[in-house]
Amino acid sequence: MNAGDPERIVADTFVRRVDFHEAIGSTNDRAIELAAPGDLELPALVLAQRQTAGRGRGGNPWWTADGALTFSLLIDDCTLPPALVSLITGLAVADALDGIVDVTSRVKWPNDVYIAGRKVCGILPEQPQGAAGPTIIGIGVNVNNAMTAAPRDIRDTAVALIDVDGRTRSLTDVLIALLQSLERAIASGSGDLQSRWQTRCLLTGAHVHATAGNRKIEGYCRGITDDGAIILDTPAGRETLISATIDAFARS
Ligand code: BTN
Repeated sequence: MNAGDPERIVADTFVRRVDFHEAIGSTNDRAIELAAPGDLELPALVLAQRQTAGRGRGGNPWWTADGALTFSLLIDDCTLPPALVSLITGLAVADALDGIVDVTSRVKWPNDVYIAGRKVCGILPEQPQGAAGPTIIGIGVNVNNAMTAAPRDIRDTAVALIDVDGRTRSLTDVLIALLQSLERAIASGSGDLQSRWQTRCLLTGAHVHATAGNRKIEGYCRGITDDGAIILDTPAGRETLISATIDAFARS
């Protein structure tokens, strides 16, 4: 990744403006700042070579090392609710990875992408000005940052593309493939979401432990509804959860 890449990104994708940083705290935080005046040409991209205070879901930190791809895409006031933006983004990333690495990518509700049974990508959508303002989609993908250098807890659950096949990839090539896939996904919206999700769903058939608000729920995942809620068959009956955290899952 170098400072000359923004021109190629603008030429090859739907992004109109690139805000590139050699080092920054969080690309999502920078995107929130850029969005505030309301005059930003969209879609816009905040791209970091190194992110020093990346944020994950639920206020968790997002670990990044050299060789990881970290960016935030700002798109226009999107008619889709944030829950669907998450799912559509996960599918778009998985679709793009099909052309980048020779293993099947899976989506873990609501917004993780897995390969080889481990997390390769995390997604953090935010709408700092509510539904009428721009939607920020923060994406972190482990590309050339081999997990041998990661902290122990991450090493055991995450994976980078280089861990799969030993290949070092151009981060700009990967980024452009992801952005092109996102453009297609955003243009086609949520049509057919349920069946598209089903073909890649990591959790379907697994026994899942989830937290929704202050409720702990466990049951077998049966996919998602049209609205993007996860379906769990619990001992007390069927539950659909539009917002929850998956604490654990296991296949029998
Ligand atoms: C998660 O899995 O919890 C979501 C992780 C999202 C990380 C990305 S990296 C780029 C963008 N900037 C951030 O601070 N977070 C997102």
